[in-house]
Amino acid sequence: MTDTLKVTKISKSKIDQVDFSKLAFGTVFTDHMFVCEYKNGAWQTPEILPYGPLQMDPSAKVFHYGQAVFEGMKAYKDDNGDVFMFRPEENFNRINKSSERLAMPAFDKAYFFDGLNTLLNLDKDWIKSGENNSLYIRPFVIATENGVSASPATEYKFIIICAPAQAYYSGEVRVLFADHYSRSADGGVGFAKAAGNYAAQFYPTELAKEKGYNQVVWTDANSHEYLEEAGTMNVFFRVHDTLLTAPTSDRILDGITRKSLIELARSQGITVEVRPVKVSEIVEAAENGSLKEMFGAGTAAVISPISGFTHKDKKFDLPKPEDAYATKLKKQLTELQANRADDPFGWRYEVPALEV
Ligand SMILES: Cc1ncc(COP(=O)(O)O)c(C=O)c1O
Repeated sequence: MTDTLKVTKISKSKIDQVDFSKLAFGTVFTDHMFVCEYKNGAWQTPEILPYGPLQMDPSAKVFHYGQAVFEGMKAYKDDNGDVFMFRPEENFNRINKSSERLAMPAFDKAYFFDGLNTLLNLDKDWIKSGENNSLYIRPFVIATENGVSASPATEYKFIIICAPAQAYYSGEVRVLFADHYSRSADGGVGFAKAAGNYAAQFYPTELAKEKGYNQVVWTDANSHEYLEEAGTMNVFFRVHDTLLTAPTSDRILDGITRKSLIELARSQGITVEVRPVKVSEIVEAAENGSLKEMFGAGTAAVISPISGFTHKDKKFDLPKPEDAYATKLKKQLTELQANRADDPFGWRYEVPALEV
């Protein structure tokens, strides 16, 4: 822990009130949170505080102009009680990339890691070991400066909150390929984890849900001919035995699960093609039976198999292959993440045990 981190502990943990067998994703939060303010051109002394409401002026810029970015990462506990994160430096780099795009200041790396390490030590009991258990970590940055002039704020808060998590999706996932609405455009903010990207997806996603779909798979805004990503997941297609996924761009989030799966799959001899994926080729593959699998990949769900898709009112069901890449890769990745398997890639980060 650096001398600069100020810690105020809760007087009594609320963990006893939580039923860990019935957690709805992202609704229960741990005892503490990390908060660091930015003002006068610098990040101030970071603090860990009891989890609780923030007091903000109604004119704070985040409420008016949506200057807000976030991250999603996870911590895991092994059977020895040691705690791990998965490629946290990637999340750190990505939140700063997102911040830059929204004219927000970059955060300090030592503050980020000290904050996380201390928070995870303080709230260690909230991380359960065993399959499907993890702690979802949500770092975010908001513009807190008061005043409604439409310009970048000069004051911000960098906050980290944590929520115990179990498996994210349950049941079959059916998706709709977008042919009207768009998530992002060239030169836009699609690559950033900007809060507004998600707000803008809610309405078309609700329309899709009313029709019985769980998610929309977004297509490129210009032609709707290329498949890009889902709401909070990158998407993979298995045609014959080749995995296809779209390249990242300024429209697509550079997912950490995505890039890890590409490496993991290739290390096992699976051919992975990272290239624009046409809607028409996936429809054709579904029609001729060569589309064996489709799945989403992201921190929350890890891998979420897709059981069917619809494009322009044409419905397709996917087979359920016994040797599904989704099942195999998910098992391998989650075991690596939770220290139940070797880590030949050096992706695991062990949270140091600290006196807190
Ligand atoms: C739009 C979008 N795409 C993809 C992903 C998957 O990224 P990652 O694997 O880093 O969680 C996420 C979730 O973070 C997302 O919000």
